[in-house]
Amino acid sequence: MYEKIIILDFGGQYAHLIANRIRRQNVLAEIWDISTPLEKFKDEKIKGIIMSGGPQSVFAKDSPKCDKKIFDLGLPILGICYGHQFITHSLGGKVIPGKKGEFGRAEVIHNKEFPLFKDVPEKSIFWMNHVDEVEIPAPGFIVCAQTEHCQNAAFYHPDKNIFSTQFHLEVTHSEFGTKVFENFLKICGVARDWTMEKFLEEEKKKIKEQVGEKNVFLFVSGGVDSTVSFMLLTEILGPKRVKGLFVDTGLMRKGEVDFVGTEIRKLGADLTILEEGERFLSNLQNIYDPEQKREVIGHTFLDVQRDFFTKHDLHENWLLAQGTIYPDTIETGGTAHADKIKTHHNRAPEVQKLIDEGKIIEPIKELYKDEVRALGELLGLPKELVWRHPFPGPGLGVRILCNEEELSITKDELLDDKISAFTLQKNKKPFIVLPIKSVGVQGDFRTYRHPAILTGIDKSKPLEELEKHATNLINHYAKINRGLVLLDKNFSGEIKEVQLHKKSITTDRVKILQTADDIVSRTLQEMNLYEKVWQFPTVLIPISFNKTGEETIILRPIDSIDAMSASVGKLPWDFFAKIAAGILQEEKISAVFLDVTSKPPGTIEWE
Ligand code: XMP
Repeated sequence: MYEKIIILDFGGQYAHLIANRIRRQNVLAEIWDISTPLEKFKDEKIKGIIMSGGPQSVFAKDSPKCDKKIFDLGLPILGICYGHQFITHSLGGKVIPGKKGEFGRAEVIHNKEFPLFKDVPEKSIFWMNHVDEVEIPAPGFIVCAQTEHCQNAAFYHPDKNIFSTQFHLEVTHSEFGTKVFENFLKICGVARDWTMEKFLEEEKKKIKEQVGEKNVFLFVSGGVDSTVSFMLLTEILGPKRVKGLFVDTGLMRKGEVDFVGTEIRKLGADLTILEEGERFLSNLQNIYDPEQKREVIGHTFLDVQRDFFTKHDLHENWLLAQGTIYPDTIETGGTAHADKIKTHHNRAPEVQKLIDEGKIIEPIKELYKDEVRALGELLGLPKELVWRHPFPGPGLGVRILCNEEELSITKDELLDDKISAFTLQKNKKPFIVLPIKSVGVQGDFRTYRHPAILTGIDKSKPLEELEKHATNLINHYAKINRGLVLLDKNFSGEIKEVQLHKKSITTDRVKILQTADDIVSRTLQEMNLYEKVWQFPTVLIPISFNKTGEETIILRPIDSIDAMSASVGKLPWDFFAKIAAGILQEEKISAVFLDVTSKPPGTIEWE
């Protein structure tokens, strides 16, 4: 068997991401719970330990801990974020509660002597996501990196081979994270013999065992996750035992149903298309809360499934498969210590019940998006399917924001805490905080806060700067979690009044968003930019300005590899100008904005 690295899961989103990074270097990484007895570590195949980040504070009463004797095993250890603080706290250093925290990009300046930083430039960008900080490192540790706000950003104990960094090495936006891991693996001296081909072989065995004599039934969405799951199962079990069902939820992109039907059938798989748009939309009437919307969509999916089972008498001999990937499970609070960010429909309570009963099979649940694509290529799927932008299961349903009460705010009104439009100030310049909320993620916790319009924006500036500006503002004001730039508008002059409309999801609103989304997709293709971004949600919010129109569109171009962290897709301004002008031609649109928030502190989707 393989030599390996153990990742100790201190909670949050990170342990699996670290494992993913290590596996990419062809080294087996296993995630172990922090309560694992020390005896288990005394295995000659184990060559090193990584302590992950986590949402807790070492000061919390029930803060996650592992056996401190782990530091005496003689294995190289690398602590990251919470791991960094846990090492300090356990070995006699001092951790203090931070005031504001540090989220997003940070410039790390390191001392060349640090063995983990071999071949890493002296200054480089890493991602930070913490509140507490190390004031005094534990005895014997040598400090070897700083950022502007963090003096003890990395240190190591030369005799004990213990290394630790406050910044995250595993998120893709940390420029040299991979290099640092590579250096750590060299220090561990672990063999590099784990590959995706071997993962596939092992997965095939597992699936055959789990499925036994049963057949499998799977909802296909056209996205890469469900397509790869479907084709993997079809390859292992044959098309007669695997039934794909494409549900047209009425919340699909324009032209999606035809495209998916044609492409998948070409591959020889068994696919049925069900038109259920009316049912979904009628269930969503008068539903305003984002979590409730997800639940309604999830339940409707299950109802459709149940009806299908009943009609075809599939109850006993069938299992339900899902194309769940790893980020879907952790962001729902799936791992031991993760905070709940939002509920994915494939973790709705009824689905969870089926999972608990062993009736669900999730063949790619341990993979990240990039690995799913690698697997798709290994299975020989066409590029058009493997390299599509991801699209969430609940579809446009999570991109149409709803609101229950009408509201109008003028520039002269100072509103209460709840809806603080026009009230925040920076350098004496007020900026407008929209009276609607969207989901974000900060320090592993879910936030539900307002977006702010950045004012005085010079559109010749690189988007990186605007993204930085948004991060600063969000780190400064607890009320907001996104920064927006106004691209184009259907009114003249400044924003003097903001109207919030009472709206749930309706056929009309779906059509408006489909049209805007289609303009974005077509322009991306026409301008050869489709592959320059990882994903590009368009979002509809029931807000208008200066009494023009009823809706506003947000453009959310994303640059990411695995959706765990993301920055704004750096597309040219002329592209944004072109789509904004196109979208404004549509009826009811008041303005078009660009979301310039990274993840964290924003999430990719608005809900
Ligand atoms: P967030 O918004 O959490 O999104 O940064 C991360 C990735 O997950 C997708 N996403 C979903 N996919 N069901 C899905 O199947 C969902 O409910 C859901 N919510 C977000 C999102 O599009 C992005 O790729």
